[in-house]
Amino acid sequence: MFRLYWTKFVLPYWALTLTAVVSFIVASAATLAVPLILKSLIDVALERENLGALNVIVISVAGLYAIRTIFSYYYSYNMAKAGNMMIRNLRNEMFKKLHAMDYGYFINASTGNVISYFTNDLWLIQQAVSLGIPDLLVESLNLVAIMAVMFYFDWQLALVTFATLPFTISVVSYFNKRIAAFGTFYEEALGKVTGLLHQSIVSVSLVQSYVREDYEYDKFRKKLQEAALDLFKVQRWNAVLIPLVEFLTAIGVTIIIWYGSREVISGKLSIGGMFAFLVYIINVPAPVGKITQAVSRMKLGLVAWSRIKELDFQPATVVEGTLELPECIGHVDFKNVSFSYNSGTEVLHDINISAGPGEVIAVVGPSGAGKSSFANLLLRFYDPQQGSIYLDGIDIKQLKISALRENIGFIQQEPILFNASIIENIRYGRPTASYCEVERAAKIANVHEFIMELPEGYNSAVGELGGRLSGGQRQRIAIARAIVVEPAILLLDEPTAALDAYAEQQVMEAIRKASAGRTAFIITHRLSTLRASDKVVYLSGGMVTEQGTHEELLVKGGSYAQAIEHGEISVG
Ligand SMILES: Nc1ncnc2c1ncn2[C@@H]1O[C@H](COP(=O)(O)OP(=O)(O)OP(=O)(O)O)[C@@H](O)[C@H]1O
Ligand SMILES: [Mg+2]
Repeated sequence: MFRLYWTKFVLPYWALTLTAVVSFIVASAATLAVPLILKSLIDVALERENLGALNVIVISVAGLYAIRTIFSYYYSYNMAKAGNMMIRNLRNEMFKKLHAMDYGYFINASTGNVISYFTNDLWLIQQAVSLGIPDLLVESLNLVAIMAVMFYFDWQLALVTFATLPFTISVVSYFNKRIAAFGTFYEEALGKVTGLLHQSIVSVSLVQSYVREDYEYDKFRKKLQEAALDLFKVQRWNAVLIPLVEFLTAIGVTIIIWYGSREVISGKLSIGGMFAFLVYIINVPAPVGKITQAVSRMKLGLVAWSRIKELDFQPATVVEGTLELPECIGHVDFKNVSFSYNSGTEVLHDINISAGPGEVIAVVGPSGAGKSSFANLLLRFYDPQQGSIYLDGIDIKQLKISALRENIGFIQQEPILFNASIIENIRYGRPTASYCEVERAAKIANVHEFIMELPEGYNSAVGELGGRLSGGQRQRIAIARAIVVEPAILLLDEPTAALDAYAEQQVMEAIRKASAGRTAFIITHRLSTLRASDKVVYLSGGMVTEQGTHEELLVKGGSYAQAIEHGEISVG
């Protein structure tokens, strides 16, 4: 935490931090000087009835308080400013890091947690860094200064007054432990709340269609209640803490009155001196309170920091290669590839597939056979445990990940569109593409005419997740998006599975045009697609049991022919 504080806060914003610290010292010195002046007020002005001195004293006290006000403002403002800048940078860094994580991380991670790293946890870190640590440092200094002045004044009286200090410290640290413990529970509960919120928004059509609003509300309410209870506990311990510190200070005041009065009577201490002492001890709760608050802020920040650290500790299993691929031809070879997800059971076993430009390879097989996993491997969302995949003869592990992925146009069963205009969605993979290029791609993808019918043409918004378009329209826009990148390879995972016969026909037509001259892998269940392909790869139980042209496999009468016979492959 202190390292984070030093490298991300103090060093980059040293000017702001320095100004803040200097401002604090000035403000604190002004506060410390006030009792000294009050002492002379009583001892000089009042005892000797000196009205001139009284005026000077009153003006000085007012001046000191003005200085204190202005410099306290400078301190808080500069610290908050540096804190904000630091968090902004940290948030940016984290976003970058998040997108560099393995695809597999997102399959297993809870979205709620990830979102709360960016919101709640970062906010707690900001509190810890821009308020917690600085307050702890400067207020400790302040407290030491107050104590030093008191000891300088009258060390015996100071010693008696501070006799309760060790007790105060142990009470405060006990409280802080509790606060940190409940703080951790609270942050976890809040992460779950965020997760539920996210899930219910994304699945709103499911929730509404099954009339499960009440159930979702109940789930949400319960989780929120859990979070609230933990927060109440944190707040309760916090709320007791400061009055308690004040009470302990009051004991100090009583001691001063009792012991100090005896010293005044015996002539060892002036009345002004005792008064100054009382003002000092009244100044003690502020720094002590701030220190305790600072420590609890730091504890909460530390918890948040260790949660965020999870992003660092997830080792990337898909490691970046070094080779560029200036001209990709599109020869793909799977050689003896075996693969399992981290759960252990083998999903793909000894896969050998070769394909080159101009070829359309249809990958078919029962559900769970490993077809999507095959696509995940080609994209290097995961790496195989055995065997290798080659692109133009180079092991894809040696290629830069960007060099590999830029050459693959990936089209999913449920295409993802951003909440932006159609043109922005189409040129997502290549933002520099001109309007003409976008239009050409849309024409190939059979979607140009539809787009032109929209009131705003290519500038029409598609709505959140493309919600304003039909499945087939979305799919054809996704195909246009892939074409704009001019990839050597097209990879389609059941692109027409969710479409009716007419929409499918349009999409297939688009795919047929788009795959000209490219290496195309189409994962499909549609007989028409299989017929039109150059080669069929039949996957079953993670193994390639047959491959050849559609006709060859039909004649052979193996598992592929049987699958067609049993109606496992839809006629479309
Ligand atoms: N992220 C994952 N972690 C663990 N196992 C997974 C993961 N994704 C898929 N699997 C498992 O891997 C096997 C193959 O899944 P895959 O998605 O490749 O099948 P598929 O052939 O695409 O099926 P479908 O036709 O239903 O889409 C399945 O048994 C599945 O349960
Ligand atoms: Mg699949």
